[in-house]
Amino acid sequence: MKKIDPKTLKENFFSLLDDRWALLTAADGAGCNPMTVSWGGTGILWNRPVATVYVRPQRYTKGLLDREKYFSLSFFSEDQREALRLCGAKSGRDMDKVKACGLTVVEDLSAPYFAQAELVLVCRKLYEQDFDPACFVDQSLDEKNYPGKDYHRMYIGEIEAVLQK
Ligand SMILES: Cc1cc2nc3c(=O)[nH]c(=O)nc-3n(C[C@H](O)[C@H](O)[C@H](O)COP(=O)(O)O)c2cc1C
Repeated sequence: MKKIDPKTLKENFFSLLDDRWALLTAADGAGCNPMTVSWGGTGILWNRPVATVYVRPQRYTKGLLDREKYFSLSFFSEDQREALRLCGAKSGRDMDKVKACGLTVVEDLSAPYFAQAELVLVCRKLYEQDFDPACFVDQSLDEKNYPGKDYHRMYIGEIEAVLQK
């Protein structure tokens, strides 16, 4: 994979996230635990290129993200769809998802990512905060998405590396 300047990216993150999904990872001891995400975004904040992800409290990944300083987002071609389905349905608490999916972990940067990925963002956490029910301007979103009051935690990371095949 080649390291590139985020400003040269031609990808559309609306369709990448919503249609193709991504694997979110943070280090997990010696290995890593991929979790499928489709909510998130990229942009500029505090004059830096950033990526944002949203993680519910019941995810095993949340404990890892809270503990680690870095996370990665790996985007794949369609041939990894089954792996992304599995990583979005099973928990790292119960199984080794990397092994089950036949993914190859690469650990040459600050967060683990996957050799099979087409595009990878490596991010350093800058800010994290749980959604506050009092802050919903459109209260219907709270009712619809959080009947169990399991509010996502938002993690904003500075994109330190963009790798592309
Ligand atoms: C397409 C798709 C997108 C998902 N997006 C998110 C997301 O953005 N945030 C989240 O907390 N969970 C999301 N999930 C659910 C987690 O991926 C799922 O609960 C996973 O099993 C958690 O794994 P873990 O317990 O190993 O962290 C998504 C699932 C799928 C199938």
